[in-house]
Amino acid sequence: MRRNDTPTAAAEHSARLRDHIAAEIQAAGGWLSFERFMDLALYAPGLGYYSGGAAKLGAGGDFTTAPEVSRLFGACMAVQCAEVLREASAGTVLEIGAGSGRLAADLLARLETLDQLPENYWILEVSADLRQRQREHLEKRLPQLIHRVHWLDRPPEESFDGVILANEVLDALPVARFRWHLEKVEELGVEIRGGARGRAQGGGPAGAPAGAPVREFEWGARPANAAMLNVCRELAAASGPWDDGYVSEYCPRLGAWTRAVTQSLRSGAVFWFDYGLPRAQYYLPERHDGTLVCHFRQRLSDDPFANIGLQDITAWVDFTRVAEASREAGFELAGFTTQAHFLAGLNIDQEMQLAAGGDANHFARLANQARQLMMPGEMGERFKAMAWLRGLDLPLSGFALLDLRHSL
Ligand SMILES: C[S@@+](CC[C@H](N)C(=O)[O-])C[C@H]1O[C@@H](n2cnc3c(N)ncnc32)[C@H](O)[C@@H]1O
Repeated sequence: MRRNDTPTAAAEHSARLRDHIAAEIQAAGGWLSFERFMDLALYAPGLGYYSGGAAKLGAGGDFTTAPEVSRLFGACMAVQCAEVLREASAGTVLEIGAGSGRLAADLLARLETLDQLPENYWILEVSADLRQRQREHLEKRLPQLIHRVHWLDRPPEESFDGVILANEVLDALPVARFRWHLEKVEELGVEIRGGARGRAQGGGPAGAPAGAPVREFEWGARPANAAMLNVCRELAAASGPWDDGYVSEYCPRLGAWTRAVTQSLRSGAVFWFDYGLPRAQYYLPERHDGTLVCHFRQRLSDDPFANIGLQDITAWVDFTRVAEASREAGFELAGFTTQAHFLAGLNIDQEMQLAAGGDANHFARLANQARQLMMPGEMGERFKAMAWLRGLDLPLSGFALLDLRHSL
């Protein structure tokens, strides 16, 4: 049984995290940036959504990612990785944020049949809980390959050749939130409803039963600092004009994070997969409430203050910003396309035939999964694939069918 499996355990866990965040808000004088709030809600040691025991991924969890939908995603990704690993002697794959470990298992299993196994498969994972799940999954599915898998606490320092990949990790990096006005820009942060003093003295929401969790948060605005002002002016120039009150977000740490996780790749490719848009579409005037989305038991909401520590909080990815960050980190843009075109370019139909092995029922199940991965109304268009190369120049099959680099 997972730690938060009973409603009581989950409520207690959430209340502890609320108290922890409330204490930080009080210590900061009554207001915390949303970026810091999201950091704590997702990653506070032992308490955050990713640090705690919530089920998170898969049918019984809060959200479903492409590797959770089908092994076909990892199989296609393996075909793509093999093109790069063929160029590297003793190559390494570094996966960032490996979730349940399914993508690692699917990828390694297919690379084995392609005779293109990397010498090492490194997993950089912040969640101790998910690390444990990944290890259990890989030990069960691929006991013969587990010696190649190593978990890292921080980005590798030794140089390596090969592949770095991350599926749905960029959207989990904490974002800053802003509100645009004709005369000024505000940073949106988090306050304790009723004020820090009222809460500190134990006052709960009106009508709350004795002993109920008393920490209730709400949005609070402060004047934006100079750095945020500059970013917002650039974004507005690229996509505006925005109406008074336009709200959106951006990821201030993306540049430093990208540099840190990719710095040791001497020669090879980086693949980013996520849901998102090029900047001009991301910050369209009509998207005036931003892109923040929370996931709780397969349901979506826009309320980051509900189910704290029990729900995922994400924001769409500005792929133009990812492109800037990856270029600044020393890479050449090699491809940008939709998930549907990425999978088609890697011959997902052949992977289905191979995986079905002549079993018509299995083939029908796989075809259904492929539809989920590829249909425009499902994951096919919302999710994008992006490739970067350093010290290598080679065509990548996943990016051969549709080239969206001009849109960045
Ligand atoms: C939405 S899940 C995606 C999991 C998996 N890649 C998949 O596609 O199923 C995000 C994953 O990234 C991890 N993560 C979040 N921030 C991270 C960071 N800064 N460094 C490494 N892993 C991170 C989480 O713990 C989790 O494993």
